[in-house]
Amino acid sequence: MSTLNIAVLAGDGIGPEITEQAVAVLERLSEQGQFALNLEHAAVGGAGYRAKGHPLPEGTLALAKASQAILFGSVGDFSLDHLSRELRPEQAILGLRKALGLFANLRPAVVFPELGHASTLKPEIVSGMDILIVRELTGDIYFGQPRGIRRLENGDREGFDTMVYNETEIRRIGRVAFEAAAKRSRRLCSVDKANVLETTQLWRDVMTELAADYPNIELSHMYVDNAAMQLLKNPKQFDVMVTGNMFGDILSDEASMLTGSIGMLASASLDSNNKGLYEPIHGSAPDIAGQDKANPLATILSAAMMLRYSFGLEASAQAIEQAVSKVLAQGYATADIQRPGAQLVGTKAMGQAVVAALG
Ligand code: IPM
Ligand code: MG
Repeated sequence: MSTLNIAVLAGDGIGPEITEQAVAVLERLSEQGQFALNLEHAAVGGAGYRAKGHPLPEGTLALAKASQAILFGSVGDFSLDHLSRELRPEQAILGLRKALGLFANLRPAVVFPELGHASTLKPEIVSGMDILIVRELTGDIYFGQPRGIRRLENGDREGFDTMVYNETEIRRIGRVAFEAAAKRSRRLCSVDKANVLETTQLWRDVMTELAADYPNIELSHMYVDNAAMQLLKNPKQFDVMVTGNMFGDILSDEASMLTGSIGMLASASLDSNNKGLYEPIHGSAPDIAGQDKANPLATILSAAMMLRYSFGLEASAQAIEQAVSKVLAQGYATADIQRPGAQLVGTKAMGQAVVAALG
């Protein structure tokens, strides 16, 4: 039986509560004999800053590098917003993505049958929606140099960032997206702003060149402003979407809300060897932290993605996904997905319900 070496970086706010439940789910599968677990915990984000003076302490980074996969909760702590940017909690996740080369971010946005009502859109627009957003994660304006705030000769301050992609970066995320599309309905929509930005003209050119290697995939292109609109108008037209770091950040939050709750959405951030960091796409939700109110399902579903992508344990991944479907069908709901007739439960009880559904 294989031993899974996993770093657990719970982080801030609701991070510790939700990762605890994902760990309980992994432990249940381990008890069932599906794999052995070696879990190591370390502080990250605001918690890292408080414990070691840095959002991504050296020991945490070393652990992340040594592990096969990382289960990540969330980072963010308003009380540390006064710190200089490199010490703020968000730098932990950006630093991990960059240091580990986690360039491929998979963000599925799926509407569970029980939650169609929870969307702000009409149920008939969203029911059955199943989109995979493939977001490039280590380039673009997030990391481009130079950047800064400078003083002009006339005394004005000027802020600037650099949007930049080279073709190697575009091609490797393109391949991930084409291959993901090959396993789904074979439709890929590449999102750019090629009518205005040179960087994304190159993006479009490279995606078009790549399409020659994937004759069975239907590639389309869409400008990001139109994509934002089409996601609200007719989200089911999309299957796999591929886009850069910043557009992907924005579109994935938009797509998540179509599903009813951002508390349901998992993500995987992968390097070229399928080593990965797995995290819910929501943030640290300080307003409900420590109150047993947060929805742990996004983190539990992230653990399923981990078993699938980093460990090749497809059956175990599906067991978790089916258990989540079952607890929704049984009518359990945390506050964010509360609905008429559902039974309101807290973080722990929701996690326990998934554990129970695993049998
Ligand atoms: C996300 C988050 C991060 C991002 C923040 C926390 C730096 O919004 O994972 O989408 O912008 O990538
Ligand atoms: Mg975001």
